[in-house]
Amino acid sequence: MRAEAQAQPNIALIKYWGKRDIEQNLPAVSSLSVTLDSLWTKMAVEFSADLAADELVVNDEQSADMLPRISACLDRVTGEGRMRASVTSECNFPIAAGLASSASAFAALVVAASKAAGFQHDTLSLARLAGAASGSAARSLYGGFVELAADDNDIDLISIADADSWPLHVVVAVTQAGRKPVGSSEAMMRSASSSPFYSSWVEQQASDLATARDAVMEKDFSKLAAVSEHNCLKMHSVMWASRPPIVYWNSATLSCMETIRALQKAGRAVFFTIDAGPQLKAVCLPDEVDTVSSALDACKGVERTMVSGLGAGARLLESR
Ligand code: DP6
Repeated sequence: MRAEAQAQPNIALIKYWGKRDIEQNLPAVSSLSVTLDSLWTKMAVEFSADLAADELVVNDEQSADMLPRISACLDRVTGEGRMRASVTSECNFPIAAGLASSASAFAALVVAASKAAGFQHDTLSLARLAGAASGSAARSLYGGFVELAADDNDIDLISIADADSWPLHVVVAVTQAGRKPVGSSEAMMRSASSSPFYSSWVEQQASDLATARDAVMEKDFSKLAAVSEHNCLKMHSVMWASRPPIVYWNSATLSCMETIRALQKAGRAVFFTIDAGPQLKAVCLPDEVDTVSSALDACKGVERTMVSGLGAGARLLESR
């Protein structure tokens, strides 16, 4: 009745932004991401007839605010009428700051909960369960380069290339580790209802995705860099043009972007991407990691940098 699982966050190069179905949390667009290896979330789930209510402890502290989403996710994994659960989470990077902590959390949660409840869900079913809790979480069930196809009625996922087939690295520049001002669900709905650019965003996604997929298959770094930066800036343009505007960047985010541009001018194989938070993620070839990390560390306003290679999908650690 107890199981523990681990998952790593994933960083989207072609972004999920917008929902086709809010109730079922189905994305309006397909996306493509890389799963990381050195940042992780561990989730232990124990169902018990002795508990009167679900409990959640995150990094040794009771956490009431995430509990309703965790309970709803457990309900979906096991069905109604389940025993209450004690959920313990450990995470080695800042939570809810645009670093995909909910992706790794829900990916690890569904794996642990399914096992603890005695189910044998396959990976796609687990990904769909995680995606119903947080769209990006579905991708963390898979490793390496992951494509999420948003079809009419559900999502499909496939790892299009292994983590070691193209050992890209990600350097995360943390510019502000606090919680984000607007959650992504709310921000997506505001974008869809008020941004004049939203419909073009949705229309152009298939073409960006196809370009990125080809770039991964061909290991064409410049092609992947160009389409990823374009897709990221387009998503943020949709947000900036929403009413009221959604601006996740701070001045350090911009300094980091300038630093990446300077490195690119100097011939370095690196590009940036930014999610629903002020952190910048630099994607680079392995040889560039030291140069990119020192350059971002030296940017005004950068609190710290974290480096990760690409890794595997969510997995079970132990069960009893
Ligand atoms: C900008 O997966 O956090 O990181 O489904 O509402 O929980 P919900 O959204 P979430 O959104 C992630 C948005 C993004 C882009 C991406 O990861 O694809």
